Amino acid sequence: GKGEYDHFMLKEITEQPTALAQAIEGRIDPTSGRIGLSAFEPGSFEAIDSVQFVACGTSYHAALYGSLALNQAGVQATALLANEYSVAAPPVDETTLVIAVTQSGETADTLNALRQATAEGARTLTVTNVVGSTAAREADDALFIRAGPEIGVAATKTFSSQAVILTLLGHRIATDLRGEPSADLESLLPALESMPSRIHELLEHSDAEAIAEQYRDSRSYFFIGRGLGYPVALEGALKFKEITYEHAEGFAAGELKHGPLALVTPETPVFAIFTGQEDEKTLKNAEEARTRGAPVIAVCPDGHPAVEAADEHLSIPETDSDLAGLFANVQLQLLSYYAADLLDRPIDKPRNLAKSVTVE
Ligand code: F6R
Repeated sequence: GKGEYDHFMLKEITEQPTALAQAIEGRIDPTSGRIGLSAFEPGSFEAIDSVQFVACGTSYHAALYGSLALNQAGVQATALLANEYSVAAPPVDETTLVIAVTQSGETADTLNALRQATAEGARTLTVTNVVGSTAAREADDALFIRAGPEIGVAATKTFSSQAVILTLLGHRIATDLRGEPSADLESLLPALESMPSRIHELLEHSDAEAIAEQYRDSRSYFFIGRGLGYPVALEGALKFKEITYEHAEGFAAGELKHGPLALVTPETPVFAIFTGQEDEKTLKNAEEARTRGAPVIAVCPDGHPAVEAADEHLSIPETDSDLAGLFANVQLQLLSYYAADLLDRPIDKPRNLAKSVTVE
């Protein structure tokens, strides 16, 4: 049940420290400082040349996060919408690893893409929350995110767990291809281990409810981010529109000036996500919005230059840039939740949506 919470969504947001601790449990080898995914022997990804992720909705945003992290580690990877895969899949062969990212393991679009990839001779893997799901049974291998059941239609804790598992998996693939772990693993692993307690802290001290109240009469809500902040911007906007029924869009921060800036007015708050990847450019993009009168809410660590430059601030801890966006995402989950609550929306069951989409 929901226990002390009014909604499953808030319960599941609050469960993220536990979900993340379960996701990483036993998957980091403290002696070697390596990533030990026990299903995969060291070297099991040696024969892989490229990775294709297939997924839908929030899982697609986690997949995009994973693909960008792999690109940064020097591995060829792309994230594809599973529902577009049948019309325009890039070629695959036995050196292609196709990773189906699906919380439920039952999404028809994602299963179709997985089956197509299998038929065309790719190696397949699913990252899922549900043991015994169709995706877990049909893919060559399954990696479970162990987030526990998610009842709210809006995916929250499963996004965080997917992104963390894909970050770990990405480093394992890169390590196998390179023959040695990358240097940045040294800062990533301790940052991962402290993530559950730091998310707990963030949840205790979030200003998201006050910000939701302050901007409740806005016309539209925009979310911008760069690098790993980009999938988080997309996810922030999806969550916001899904449960508040208000218009929201996510953009790559640098794209704003290529069109969307025409929509920016004093009635469109812009949430700018800073992940430590070319933040000075994102700050310039946020300032372009502010010059048009838009209120800017910086999602960044305390003491970051964006705090001074923006109208409001949602705080995230200083951490590895591989993970900063995931802290920002938790602030944005809370923002959506409180904005929807103020509007009295049926948060756990938004109109027209189902938890598991088993039709094409
Ligand atoms: C949004 C949401 C959906 C799902 C999508 C894929 O909050 O939950 O966008 O992410 O339908 O579902 P799974 O991950 O079960 O394949």
